[in-house]
Amino acid sequence: MKALVRDRYLSHEGSVQIKDIEKPHVKDDDVLVRVRAASAKPWGWDLPAIMQSIDRIIGRFHEPKPHVPGLNFAGEVEAVGKNVTRFQPGAAVFGSAEGALAEYVSANEKALAPKPSNLTFAEAATVAMPGATALQAVRKGQVTSEDRVLVVGASGGVGVFAVQLAKAVGAEVTGVCSTRNLDLVRSLGADHAIDYTKQDFTRAGQRYDAILDMAGNHTLSELRQALRPDGTLVMVGQAGIPVSEQSWFKALTRWLRAVMWSTFSRRKLVALIPTKIRQDLLQGLTDAIEADTLIPIVTATFPLDEAPAAIEQLEEGRGRAQVVIKFST
Ligand SMILES: NC(=O)c1ccc[n+]([C@@H]2O[C@H](COP(=O)([O-])OP(=O)(O)OC[C@H]3O[C@@H](n4cnc5c(N)ncnc54)[C@H](OP(=O)(O)O)[C@@H]3O)[C@@H](O)[C@H]2O)c1
Repeated sequence: MKALVRDRYLSHEGSVQIKDIEKPHVKDDDVLVRVRAASAKPWGWDLPAIMQSIDRIIGRFHEPKPHVPGLNFAGEVEAVGKNVTRFQPGAAVFGSAEGALAEYVSANEKALAPKPSNLTFAEAATVAMPGATALQAVRKGQVTSEDRVLVVGASGGVGVFAVQLAKAVGAEVTGVCSTRNLDLVRSLGADHAIDYTKQDFTRAGQRYDAILDMAGNHTLSELRQALRPDGTLVMVGQAGIPVSEQSWFKALTRWLRAVMWSTFSRRKLVALIPTKIRQDLLQGLTDAIEADTLIPIVTATFPLDEAPAAIEQLEEGRGRAQVVIKFST
């Protein structure tokens, strides 16, 4: 099968190439999916800083091995392992599994859900992990219809879902993004949009009941100032910090300080630790998609032969997160 292959294991370095590699072996609990579309943003780029540090150390002693990036996909079931009960060959599905940027991917049954019939394969390919992360963030933030919610990183893979899910609950939502994405964020239903290149939301005098922070570039004190006295900060990611400046030690000490402050304050500062995809989260997303309260955003699609260039552009920070590679029509 054809796959996008990166020669340097889990690294930000090295180019992605199209190669012929062996089809994945299907384990007893797994489903082999013929990928129709996969999100161009591979998991490896967003690894927590600690994993990137470990990878760099391993890379010094190991011969680099080929790595198929990719995590989120949609496609059709080709074959199922002997313990699989929920899917049959031919079913249209979406989900998350490592190595998704390939013509075939093997995924655990629990990481898959039937593709909502109102989505294209390209749209469904953007949903699983970013959507599940957004849903968890909205739940951890205990967002209600009474709340004013700030979504920092509102135009990103996670943010586009977080804005819509918070709006679906009935909250008043403010999205933070760069100038070029202000219209996108408003089109998602955000009541207000703040351009982070022009305005610092922590100095604007506004206070929020929940802040869902995908950027991680403000100090905890600054973020606390933007929270109401009984508000909740959900720390999701570090998209606002250059990769070279991310450090697992800083992330850990920030998390420890957040736990300490939460113990002595009505304001809650909680970290969202990335977990495996769960059925209840996929179901929650499917329900919202079928009710038309959650609409995935696809900003560009590329055929497989243009995928290496598209991925390179994303790595250089050009292009938005919701870029999709089509493996077949
Ligand atoms: N995607 C997932 O499944 C997932 C799961 C768990 C955790 N995370 C973590 O969550 C974070 C966001 O992930 P993502 O996939 O949404 O990333 P993404 O698609 O790259 O989006 C990043 C978002 O952050 C915004 N941003 C960048 N710099 C900023 C700054 N200085 N201040 C405020 N906003 C800024 C971007 O706005 P502009 O594009 O307008 O500049 C964009 O909205 C990452 O750290 C990631 O590791 C992601």
